[in-house]
Amino acid sequence: MSLVDIPVEDTFGGEPVAGASDLRAALHSRYHATRQLSIALSEPLAPEEYRIQSMPDVSPPWWNLGHTTWFFAKNILEPRTSYRLPGRLEYALNSYYETHGDRVPRHQRGLLSSPTTPEVLELRRDVDQRMSDLIADTDDDGWADLDFLVTTGIQHEQQHQELMVTEIKHILSVNAPGACRTYREGVLPTTSPSPLSWHAVSGGLRHFGSDDRSWCWDNEQPRHQAYNHDFEISSRLVTTAEYLEFIEDGGYEDPLLWLANGWAIGCERSWSSPLYWSQDRRTEFTLRGERELDPCAPIQHVSYYEADAYATWRSRTDAAYEGCRLPTEREWEQAASELGFAPETGNLLESEHFNSVAAPPDSQPFAQAAGDLWEWTSSHYEPYPGYRPFEGDLMEYNGKFMDNQRVLRGGSCATPRSHIRSTYRNFWPADTRFQFSGIRLARSI
Ligand code: AVJ
Ligand code: FE
Repeated sequence: MSLVDIPVEDTFGGEPVAGASDLRAALHSRYHATRQLSIALSEPLAPEEYRIQSMPDVSPPWWNLGHTTWFFAKNILEPRTSYRLPGRLEYALNSYYETHGDRVPRHQRGLLSSPTTPEVLELRRDVDQRMSDLIADTDDDGWADLDFLVTTGIQHEQQHQELMVTEIKHILSVNAPGACRTYREGVLPTTSPSPLSWHAVSGGLRHFGSDDRSWCWDNEQPRHQAYNHDFEISSRLVTTAEYLEFIEDGGYEDPLLWLANGWAIGCERSWSSPLYWSQDRRTEFTLRGERELDPCAPIQHVSYYEADAYATWRSRTDAAYEGCRLPTEREWEQAASELGFAPETGNLLESEHFNSVAAPPDSQPFAQAAGDLWEWTSSHYEPYPGYRPFEGDLMEYNGKFMDNQRVLRGGSCATPRSHIRSTYRNFWPADTRFQFSGIRLARSI
């Protein structure tokens, strides 16, 4: 497997009149590069591994490959061509769209044997051919709509590329000790730790959210003003060595460090270290197999509750960190715009580490912001003032999930490079650990 970077600059919003054939060619090539990347990401799997749902939140890989295809079929081909997706595929491949009718319950995707994996791959080829024809045949009047929808379908497939890599890690991890296959051979790079420093950021009224110049999700808009107080943000993510100090000081045993819901869930699930660690806390499971903990690497696969408890513990026990906490999403976004946010050099999917790696000592001020790990923010996932969901069937995409989740920023080692932006808002419930999630600290000054 070798992963090809999809061009970061997109064609979205281009004028069809001047250079219409260039725009069509560019969209066509972005579409097919995205589709090929999904196949390349699944190719290391054994046939059995395509079918496993290792926990309710994890979809089997065949499902990700099918559902992303369903998205193009339902939202683009069906309204514009005579194509109709067979009913049994609609049932299996619809994720959560009430407008598209009945579907297999999310936690039961792993029970289905139909469609078979070869049938899913055949569906992909059929839909890809029809999408090529449609892109070639759409006239200037239909171009703006098609451009928007195909770009949205590409971005949707990129979200599922990240989900697929993240879920493959979980699927491979649940086998008997010694029987876990590796996704990729090879060792991860290590470096000596860069010392943590604080960057001061001046408060005031600032702009947040995406402007209209390029494609974005509805939840990144409208661009609006909000007030940040003066704050400091840490230069890099919290490391494994730093997190081990929290564990060794009894962090998982002290309810006074935890949010009540986090403490209850941690007790119920017997949390005593991050996900994927061995009992003896010496090794962790990665997509490159079981490996010794790297003290310099950022701590990964922690829930919001663990991230918050770590910040509370550090603030109380370490004078140099007094008052530290997780950043709000608007502090994070202001820091990204003032300190720099560089997907070009970040550890993202195409870096092919499939894991977070230590920040080299010469990193930029806001190291690991783009890529490595999604960074938990203390912000609840809420609509920006004046939020309007996408129109039509895509209305269900984001808005209905703005409830009981926290926002994460910055992308991870499983995020495609052309997918991430400094205004991007990811969201997961506070107890989620299987995502590539980590901890950055902030404090008020
Ligand atoms: C933004 C990653 C939480 O997994 O439900 C995929 C992405 N939305 N298909 C999710 C998504 C529709 C979403 N997350
Ligand atoms: Fe989806």
